[in-house]
Amino acid sequence: MQQKREQWGSRWGFILAAMGSAVGLGNIWRFSYAMGEGGGSAFLIIYLVSVLVIGFPVMLIEFSIGRRTQTDAVDAFKKLAPKSGWLVAGGLGVLAAFLILSFYGVIGGWSLRYMFEYMTGGITGDPQDFFVGFISDPASPVFWQFVFMALTVGIVFLGVQKGIELSSKVMMPVLSILLIGLAAYSLTLGGAEEAFAFMFQPDWDAFTDPSVYISAMGQAFFTLSLGMGAMLTYASYLDPEERLTSSAAIIIVLDTLFALVSGLVIFPALFAFGLDPSEGAGLVFMVLPNIFEALGGIGTLAGVVFFVLLSMAALSSAISLLEVAVAYFMRRLNASRKAMTLVVGLVIFLLGVPSSLSQGAMDITILGDSFLDFMDAFTGNLVLPLGGLIMVLFVGWTWTKKEILDHGDVADQSWGPLYVLTAKFVAPVAILLVLIIGMINW
Ligand code: PHE
Repeated sequence: MQQKREQWGSRWGFILAAMGSAVGLGNIWRFSYAMGEGGGSAFLIIYLVSVLVIGFPVMLIEFSIGRRTQTDAVDAFKKLAPKSGWLVAGGLGVLAAFLILSFYGVIGGWSLRYMFEYMTGGITGDPQDFFVGFISDPASPVFWQFVFMALTVGIVFLGVQKGIELSSKVMMPVLSILLIGLAAYSLTLGGAEEAFAFMFQPDWDAFTDPSVYISAMGQAFFTLSLGMGAMLTYASYLDPEERLTSSAAIIIVLDTLFALVSGLVIFPALFAFGLDPSEGAGLVFMVLPNIFEALGGIGTLAGVVFFVLLSMAALSSAISLLEVAVAYFMRRLNASRKAMTLVVGLVIFLLGVPSSLSQGAMDITILGDSFLDFMDAFTGNLVLPLGGLIMVLFVGWTWTKKEILDHGDVADQSWGPLYVLTAKFVAPVAILLVLIIGMINW
């Protein structure tokens, strides 16, 4: 006898959990450094267009598949298209869960370490030296990565309602309040004007740089948790009667706001202290501590708030990454949630160790990037868009128009035909184009 499959306790439980998945390191850590490297506003504009033209339809498509099939990412395709190649999208998703969470856990660990440092009085010495010293140590980052993964495992271990839903209900409101408070404070530091110019004044030259397109589209996939079945898996725990469009809209709008407001936390402070936005993946860890230090006592408090925020955001996303793999293996191996969570969590932790070591302890590089940076760009900019492409093609071209409309709950919306058109042509062509540009310029 199969166990009854788990479900969310309420519609808001689902929305908050999906928002928890979307809002994460992607909005704060990844968004700020990608935007800093991508020249600011040009990146922002392409990212916003991608969210609207690609992100919204792909999210609705993942929701439709998940709610309709009530099963994990691989089985969903098996159910809908038996004996076909489409399930490669699900397989790619489970693989992506392993790859992304492996390095995500490393950054999550860094965040926990910084949270701990600020809670115990702040970091000592030059922030840059501190950061480099920390990440190039072979043991300490791995220890913190382990702590982060243990928390992630702990939540997923407790199940959909008692673990994922409950933790999201607590973390998401706290996160929102902390973020708004920090932004309000950061805007008073004197760098607001420069930050606004950097974020919102278009620099037309940057539009001719092909790498900005791929990183901005990759960012849209990454930050919305799309292209790997995370949203599909979460939607599979929905009651089939639950409506989808408004949930997707809420999640997308809030996730985007979260990224913008994070930008308003980071960039004004950064410019106020005359620091460089194109610092790369260490941006929030190297730049912000300078600022916190310069501010004295209140800076230590701001540091605590910031890293509590970052750690919680990371955790609520990490659980969705783990859940994709756990849901798959539970069904596939007919095993218990608890056993699968522990095993998969441990494997992913081990997979992440090379990422951690690649930051200075050992020389592990791929194509000139550190192992961690490579995993980040490879999964975000390539694997997720590819997974998303297969999913839109699947729904756009193997479902009837009526199925596309009905399963997305768009049949009675005025923009229904536009959605079908986007699923069939606009989104696939856009994703493909950007992927090709990216390949050519690799
Ligand atoms: N959306 C998360 C973030 O922005 C990352 C993530 C990607 C989570 C893919 C789940 C799936 O940090």
